[in-house]
Amino acid sequence: MNILISYYSRTGTTRKAAMDIKEVLNKKDIEVKTEEIIDKKNRDGNTGYVIAGKDALMKKKTEIKDISYHPENFDMLIVGTPVWAGKVTPAIRTYLENYKDEISQTAFFCTHGGGGESKTFNDMQEIAGEPKEVLSLRDKDVEERKHLEDISNFLERIL
Ligand SMILES: Cc1cc2nc3c(=O)[nH]c(=O)nc-3n(C[C@H](O)[C@H](O)[C@H](O)COP(=O)(O)O)c2cc1C
Repeated sequence: MNILISYYSRTGTTRKAAMDIKEVLNKKDIEVKTEEIIDKKNRDGNTGYVIAGKDALMKKKTEIKDISYHPENFDMLIVGTPVWAGKVTPAIRTYLENYKDEISQTAFFCTHGGGGESKTFNDMQEIAGEPKEVLSLRDKDVEERKHLEDISNFLERIL
């Protein structure tokens, strides 16, 4: 089985979670590639934050950088996003829309400050179909490394 982990991260939490998922898979001798989805729109600072929330709420797409790996070459795609205003980020919305025809089996994960994950997963499911499994992680738990058991359980369920 080969797995692609694609994720967007504005401030690094979702990236950390993606790398932790990768590490667990590597220990199981599963071939994994990671792809960070890059939003070409500047999301920095307070203005970036406010516009990011608005764009997500309005279900806007954005421009993303070219990808390195095509989902069609993998048995499973694990997609990660931060929750923005109870929605999927524009970068991951765009990624899923652009490549949905290449996607077979998915699992979703998100990081958040305390809520909005089920609506975010619904957003993703609307585009890419029903995932095999979902994983929701609090940003604080990722920072404090309290999320590793959740990751292990998530991977047990999808493998
Ligand atoms: C524009 C914006 C909107 C957010 N909206 C929510 C929200 O609705 N619910 C929530 O729990 N956290 C929300 N957050 C917090 C992030 O989801 C959370 O901190 C996440 O782990 C950040 O991931 P990152 O570091 O990979 O960018 C929001 C953050 C941003 C920047």
